[in-house]
Amino acid sequence: MKERAAIILAAGQGTRMKSALPKVLHKIGGRPMLDWSIALARKVGCTRIVTVVSKDSDALSAHVLKALGDGSVAVQDPPMGTGHAVQAAHSNIQGFDGHVIVLYGDTPLISPASVEALFESLDAGAKVGVLGFEAATPGAYGRLVTNDEGDLEKIVEAKEATPEELAIQLCNSGVMAVRSGDLFQLLDDVTNDNAKGEYYLTDIVGLARKSGGRCAVVRCPENEVMGVNSKAELARAEAVFQAGRRQDMLDAGVTLTGPETVFFSFDTEIEPDVIVEPNVVFAPNVHVMKGATIRAFSHLEGAIVREDAEVGPYARLRPGADIGRGARIGNFVEVKKTRVGDGAKANHLAYLGDGFIGANANIGAGTIFCNYDGFLKYETRIGEGAFVGSNSALVAPVSVGDGAIVGSGSVITDDVTAGALAVGRGRQIEKQGWAEAFRSRKRAEKKAKG
Ligand code: UD1
Ligand code: MG
Repeated sequence: MKERAAIILAAGQGTRMKSALPKVLHKIGGRPMLDWSIALARKVGCTRIVTVVSKDSDALSAHVLKALGDGSVAVQDPPMGTGHAVQAAHSNIQGFDGHVIVLYGDTPLISPASVEALFESLDAGAKVGVLGFEAATPGAYGRLVTNDEGDLEKIVEAKEATPEELAIQLCNSGVMAVRSGDLFQLLDDVTNDNAKGEYYLTDIVGLARKSGGRCAVVRCPENEVMGVNSKAELARAEAVFQAGRRQDMLDAGVTLTGPETVFFSFDTEIEPDVIVEPNVVFAPNVHVMKGATIRAFSHLEGAIVREDAEVGPYARLRPGADIGRGARIGNFVEVKKTRVGDGAKANHLAYLGDGFIGANANIGAGTIFCNYDGFLKYETRIGEGAFVGSNSALVAPVSVGDGAIVGSGSVITDDVTAGALAVGRGRQIEKQGWAEAFRSRKRAEKKAKG
C-alpha cells in the first residue's frame, strides 16, 4: 500500500459562527470538529497529517501542535482559496511520496469507508478521486460534471456555473485524493481567474483531464459531508451525529427507552444489556458495563459504571467516578474522583469527591465528603461494610474503618477505628415542662405590650 498523508484545510475565517473560538474547535459529540478530521486521517492510516491555518490563529495552531506535533501546522497568509491552502502545506510534506487526502476542518462526519474508497480510486488508475454527494439543495456547492462513463470531467463552482450545470445535483464535498506528485504539479497550473479571484483546488480536476488523466467520483450520503459554517449548521451536524450514535447503540444491544432524548459523545462506550432511561447525557469518556442501568436525567462524564450497577435518576458522575459492580448511586448524588466499591450504596443527596468507598458500605442521605480547604484537595476513605449516618460531613483527609458506624449528623474530623461507633455532634439535652413555661411567659409579655 502507498504511504498516505492528509492535508486538513482550516484557514477559513468562520465569521458566520459569530464566536471568539475558531470555527473548527467547536465540538460535535464532545470532540472539536478538527479532531474528527484528524481522527479520520489517522484511522485510514495517514502517516503525515498537516493542518492549514491562517496567521493570527494562535489558539488553533496551539491545538494542532498539541494534537499532531512539530511540522503539522502550515500557515496560509493570506488565505486565497482552497488550492492556495493546499499549496501552503507543500513544504510540510516535502519528501513525501504517496497518496494525499485533502480534508476540511469543518466537515466532521465523513466515514473512513468513504476515504478508503477514494484511495482505492487512485489504485484503480484515477488521477484525482473526488468525494461527491447528491445534494437535496445544491445551492452554493461546486457541481460535479460527469461524462457518459460516470467519470468526472470538471468541477464548476456555483458562481461560475451555467444554468444547466446549476441543475446538477451531484455536488463536491471538497474531499479529494491525489498522488502527492500529481497534486502539486496540477496546483502549479491553477490560476485565480474566476468569480471569487481565488485559487480553486477544484480546478485540478479539469487540468488533470486536459493532461489525459481519468478522474473518479466516489459517492457518499449527504449527511456525511455536511459542512459547518454557522451555529445552526453546528446544531444540525450534532443532530446527525446523535441520530447515528443512537442507532449504533440500539444495534449493539443497548436499551434506550427514549432514544431521541439521550445524548452521546464520540467515545461513549456502552455494553449490551445496559438500560438507559430518557434524558441522559454522556459527556466524553464514559464506559458503562453490561447489566447496568442509567436512570432518567443523569449526567455522566469521565466515569466507569461497572456490571449491574444502578445510577440515577438525577445523578451526576464526574471525572474519576468509578461505580462498582451492583453499586447504587441514587438521586441528587454527585460523585467525583471516587471509587465506589461493589454493592455500596449512596441513594440520596450526597457529594462524594476524592474518595474511596469500600464494598457494601452505605452512605446516608446528605453525606458530604469535605474534600477541599480552599487550597488543596484531600481524600476520604470509607471501609468495607461501613455505615455513614445521614447528614454527616467527613472532613478530609479522614478515614472510617471497615464495618464502623458514623452517627447521623456527625462532623467527622478524626479517623474512625474499624467496627467502632463515632458520633461527632452536640449532645441532645431535655428540659421537662420547659415548652409550656416558655409559652406562658411570652403570652404575658405580648399582653403587657397591648
Ligand atoms: C468548497 C469547494 C466547493 C465545495 C464546497 C464543499 C472550492 C473552490 N470549492 O467551496 O466545490 O462544494 O467547498 O463545502 O474548493 N480554506 C482555507 N483557505 C482558503 C479557503 C478555504 O483553508 O483560502 C478552507 C476553509 O477553512 C474550509 C475549506 O477550506 O475548511 C473550504 O472553504 P470554503 O471557503 O468553505 O469553500 P466553499 O466556498 O464552501
Ligand atoms: Mg464552505
